Amino acid sequence: MKKVIDFLGLLVLFFILTGINSYKAYKDFPEPVPTSQGQKIFQEMGCPMCHGHQGLGNGFLAQGLEPKPRNFTSFQEMKGVPYQSMYTAIKDGIPFTGMPAFNLNDQQIDETISYVRSFLTENYITLNTCSNVSQVVSLENVGAGEQFEIEIDKKELISTQLKAGEITLTPNFDAVRSAYKEKKAKLVRVHVNLTQNTKEKKKYLAIIAVRINSCIK
Ligand code: HEC
Repeated sequence: MKKVIDFLGLLVLFFILTGINSYKAYKDFPEPVPTSQGQKIFQEMGCPMCHGHQGLGNGFLAQGLEPKPRNFTSFQEMKGVPYQSMYTAIKDGIPFTGMPAFNLNDQQIDETISYVRSFLTENYITLNTCSNVSQVVSLENVGAGEQFEIEIDKKELISTQLKAGEITLTPNFDAVRSAYKEKKAKLVRVHVNLTQNTKEKKKYLAIIAVRINSCIK
């Protein structure tokens, strides 16, 4: 009996030690936030004058502005704009640009941001993870039955695996380590996008913004 217990103990220890890279965390996309309230605010507050009704940055005042309002439907232009930055922009305006401050409460700003984000995608999630932890994201709420392609902005940093309505994201430990070294930082950001190419344009079914923290002291 003792042998069996010893053996089980060793087995547990083995799993703890090799837990590096085999630990998984499970996440769901949140249900898309209804954007109707945000849309109402966007329109009533006159945002389209500069940002355009489709968020393209082509409102009738945009021509005279420098910098021009960015294109809210472009991944390239939106990927570097986190929630907090949008929040501050709407609440306080952006100095030395045409972006004015708006007198909105937190909930109104939140709803407006959801609407602004929805120009690019309705399904947006931010994952905080560690360089040795895989994340499994259920695609149930994004319509995983649909055909899509996976696009990654820093391919070398993360591997993906699709299975049964789930996507598993595994940081490439060594590549992530070198990225930390290069950036002299303990955090790298990667975007994993589920895209659909229709004839007219690329559609973003979902965007997973992954923040890979070192987590190792
Ligand atoms: C008079 C023109 C104007 C109006 C009206 C306006 N904006 Fe802007 N907005 C700008 C400009 C210019 C920028 C700076 C360039 C950029 O980042 O797109 C900006 C930036 C932003 C950004 C990006 C923030 C960031 O971190 O870069 C968001 C989000 C935004 N506006 C939302 C709104 C919303 C919501 C409204 C209405 C409630 C609104 N804007 C009204 C001109 C305007």
